[in-house]
Amino acid sequence: MKQLQVLFLASEVDPFAKTGGLADVCGALPKALSALKVDVKVVLPLYGSIDRKKYAIQLVSNHCVHMGNCEEWFSLHTTSRDGVDFYFIEFDKFFGRHELYNTKQGEFSDNPFRFAFFGKAALQVARDIGFKPDIIHCNDWQTGLVPAHLAFDNDLFFADTRCIFTIHNIGYQGIFRPQVLAYAGIPLHHFHQGTYESFGAINFLKGAIILSDIVTTVSPTYAREICGPIGSAGMHDILRAKGDRLIGILNGIDTAQWSPATDTRIPKNYTVTSLAGKAVNKAELQRHFLLHDDPNIAVFGFVGRFAQQKGMELLRDAVEQAVVNMACQIVIVGSGETEFERFFGELPRFHPGKIGSHIGYSEDLAHLVEAGSDFFLMPSLYEPCGLNQMYSLAYGTLPVVRATGGLEDTVENYNEVNGTGTGFKFSNISASALYNTMGWAVSTFYDRPAHYRAMQQQAMAQDFGWKRSAQSYYDVYQSLIEKKS
Ligand code: ADP
Ligand code: GLC
Repeated sequence: MKQLQVLFLASEVDPFAKTGGLADVCGALPKALSALKVDVKVVLPLYGSIDRKKYAIQLVSNHCVHMGNCEEWFSLHTTSRDGVDFYFIEFDKFFGRHELYNTKQGEFSDNPFRFAFFGKAALQVARDIGFKPDIIHCNDWQTGLVPAHLAFDNDLFFADTRCIFTIHNIGYQGIFRPQVLAYAGIPLHHFHQGTYESFGAINFLKGAIILSDIVTTVSPTYAREICGPIGSAGMHDILRAKGDRLIGILNGIDTAQWSPATDTRIPKNYTVTSLAGKAVNKAELQRHFLLHDDPNIAVFGFVGRFAQQKGMELLRDAVEQAVVNMACQIVIVGSGETEFERFFGELPRFHPGKIGSHIGYSEDLAHLVEAGSDFFLMPSLYEPCGLNQMYSLAYGTLPVVRATGGLEDTVENYNEVNGTGTGFKFSNISASALYNTMGWAVSTFYDRPAHYRAMQQQAMAQDFGWKRSAQSYYDVYQSLIEKKS
């Protein structure tokens, strides 16, 4: 059988550039596809923050793409890792900055132009290097104009190419003034309600959903949620219309980076049969965050973006009450909306020894929190997949989650009768539901330690590696190719 060729497009890819789980997935999935013998080439922007030396990124060639009525010249750089070729588009006018999408002052106003350019430049790269892909795999709104080029540009080079679009988060759609159409070179007659038009604006995600051959999203439950009016941010009708061309495929985790047995960022490695090592990480976590040094107290961790989506208001309203009324400690690591940065940044001062926080982005601390905590908090209002709860399960750190999206699919609720389950779930969007569930977790920790241990073992025995999910993507690619012939 001919080797499948996939052009994989993303605005962030771990380890080069990351703001969230999108990067983790776009770093790990191509690697897993390559292990399935797929010829996958990943294209991303060369942001100013990408360390070219560290990743041996080399200049390859210069290219030109027509944007509106101008020619934009850009440079192509490359590196290879784990059997995957990564291509970086260097165009300083748009990507020379350190931040990916925004600063503290807000979103970059030229974002529509930056990513219209990125999509078109990526297609130009494929042509120029002679890589005629069977599949173009687009991710999130930043790649949302690519399906338009494939559908409208009548380019023979891509005549046999099929397009799959993965929604990682429907809350971010890329809604802008339609002026960008001219720059992207998409004729106005293609701009209507059946494509990208939405209340007079251009909606990158909407058109991408409509024009792609297949749409996937990152968990089966989220695939169902986004077909209903509550979870879809307005997209439910067009998603429902996709029928069986909308598929939920659960993300995996990169076990090379997230495994307590081999993690090089944590003080002490451990496995399901040597859980004593976890206590060393807990002691270091308590020391680092100036918490009372107590090996027997229940510690809750949180790592994530401080965004409404993550249930930050619930967390804000539940954690103080929790440390006052329960024997527990709390560690928060994250950054994002100013209001929450201020609140969680100041919190340790009011609860010394009981609450610790780090405002900012730190891979090392993210690993330490996963390894050293007893419980991990994810009270998300919605969660397309969520990676942290899967990291937590692998690290024997039981997740306390709202039952939504991928959290629903990956965490099995505690059954108090027989001690089975891998975490603690609640449904109501309220601080009291979170607080009560934290209470349930704490009481299990102290009063039913045998159940807590059994749950840790059940959690750590799960396989969330990428193999199965990559196979599902492979099958989707293959089904598109078969339909074609
Ligand atoms: P989302 O993509 O919605 O932010 P995910 O759970 O899918 O949520 O992925 C978040 C990723 O970003 C995880 O790898 C998590 O560890 C990482 N992350 C988020 N905030 C921080 C932070 N402040 N420091 C380190 N890692 C972080
Ligand atoms: C998004 C979602 C998150 C998901 C990640 C990777 O950022 O918010 O739930 O895990 O993408 O697919």
